[in-house]
Amino acid sequence: MSDLDVMKKWLQEEYTIGIPKDVYAITSKYLSKKYNKKSYILKVCLIIHRLSEMPWYTQEQISEDIGIDKKELIKLNKVIRDCDFFQQLIVKEGLGRKYWNTIIPYVKNGAVDKVINYEYQFPLRVALFPGLSCMYYCGFCGRNQKAIYDPSIIEKGNERFKNIISSMPKYSTISISGGLEPLTNKGLGDIISYAKSLGMKVPLITNGHMLTPSYVSKNSGIWDLDSLRISLYGTDDESTYFVTRHKKAYNLVKNNMIEFLKKRNEINPDLKFGLNYIIIPDNIDTIIPLLEYIIEVNSKVDNGRGVDFLTIREDFGSVTDGDDIDVKDRIYHLDGFLSTEQRKNLIDIFKEFNDRKEKECSELHVDFGYAMVALGDGILGKPLARVSGKQMRVSGYPQMSVAVDSSGDIFLYREAGFLDRPGNDKFIAGRVTDKDTFEDVLREFVENGKVIDRKDTDCRFMDSYDHLMTILVNQAESDKNFGIPFNLGPVQIRLSESNSKQKQYKISNNWYKD
Ligand SMILES: C[S@@+](CC[C@H](N)C(=O)[O-])C[C@H]1O[C@@H](n2cnc3c(N)ncnc32)[C@H](O)[C@@H]1O
Ligand code: SF4
Repeated sequence: MSDLDVMKKWLQEEYTIGIPKDVYAITSKYLSKKYNKKSYILKVCLIIHRLSEMPWYTQEQISEDIGIDKKELIKLNKVIRDCDFFQQLIVKEGLGRKYWNTIIPYVKNGAVDKVINYEYQFPLRVALFPGLSCMYYCGFCGRNQKAIYDPSIIEKGNERFKNIISSMPKYSTISISGGLEPLTNKGLGDIISYAKSLGMKVPLITNGHMLTPSYVSKNSGIWDLDSLRISLYGTDDESTYFVTRHKKAYNLVKNNMIEFLKKRNEINPDLKFGLNYIIIPDNIDTIIPLLEYIIEVNSKVDNGRGVDFLTIREDFGSVTDGDDIDVKDRIYHLDGFLSTEQRKNLIDIFKEFNDRKEKECSELHVDFGYAMVALGDGILGKPLARVSGKQMRVSGYPQMSVAVDSSGDIFLYREAGFLDRPGNDKFIAGRVTDKDTFEDVLREFVENGKVIDRKDTDCRFMDSYDHLMTILVNQAESDKNFGIPFNLGPVQIRLSESNSKQKQYKISNNWYKD
């Protein structure tokens, strides 16, 4: 086995005090004479292992774990930071590699520092929520199931979306999602085409219910998308009805998908098409059928490529996390998260899934998401990284990410971006109006240092990305307060760079490649 393979295997296992002999020997090879001593080798191993699995592990925690003072830790950090092999292990080879993928551009862009220092910057990531209503009732979705927007706001709302798009600097990215169901906005195609005309890559997330051949023929702007991801809510009539409570959902979406793919192959083969599938305790047994579903869809697309990518996600607990704040009026209730037993079960299921995928559907790009990546590798790993509501940033992180809806309301957290979701108003940074532009509202919000009173149950307003961003900013602040900011830490890629370079690190807004 190569050095890299030995280390990778070790990083996949739970950290234990007795470091395996081969890991010890390899680590020692990469250390200079001064640090090539047992006590240092063990410390270096622990730092690498911890950070490769939990990129949010703070310097204070590390200092406690290995029992050294700050001065010594700063020196050791430099040794690790200057070694390319150690850097690769931390950022690319551990169970936390998906988290690292998301984190890196934000640190390199200097956005994390700007959040901590209350400095304004146009958000790196803007989510447009143009939907006016939704026809499904997914049990894990935080939407207010009774709320719909007044359709008369559409014209102004769409003009506002275009204004926001034209004000975006080159380093920012957009996505179109919800909120509610984006295809319910009849001007959606125009918004997509407008963004494309300015050179932007536009991804769309939709439940696919309205993506009928007739809709597609009337809304040619849809072909200007870079990618379209359908959130699939079941693999047969029963499982789809269980989640959506819509009797037509299964057949309609499947047919829409097949017809869309045929047209895609004729009109714009560059458009990447994928599915998202949320795994909840109730649908674990639909994962193999999910692969069969994709294979069947592909077989019906008789003029070229079928489904390009699949993202598999865990419920991030927007509704199911045990509180009943906005659960009482819902059509049905779902239980909580996957149990450890169910996660163990998933390891076997994913193994069969991966084996069959390679044989029967090898072109499909599968993205297992932050916490599922370990299960996909055949390892239990840790559940999704989450923080409590009290740990949320007092002023959000609008320099990094916001969502904006058809009324012009700018939401600090994406799961807050549902019309009339109880308790979400405190997470609205402000409203874009004829007088106040998107930038005016955000600049004022940031520079005034507005502080939000959070409660523990407010964690329901965060999706998995928001949990991760919160953890990242909290870590950066903790390390800074501890006296070992990222610049003195063990990760090379977290060193901030000069302003001229910062803007080059554009955030990825696609799911069709790693
Ligand atoms: C809120 S939906 C809005 C767009 C559209 N209505 C749809 O369902 O695709 C945006 C995405 O969030 C996902 N989602 C909603 N609640 C979730 C949860 N609790 N955990 C993980 N993903 C969730 C949906 O499946 C969808 O892919
Ligand atoms: S997840 Fe999407 S489709 Fe499901 S209820 Fe929420 S907005 Fe509607």
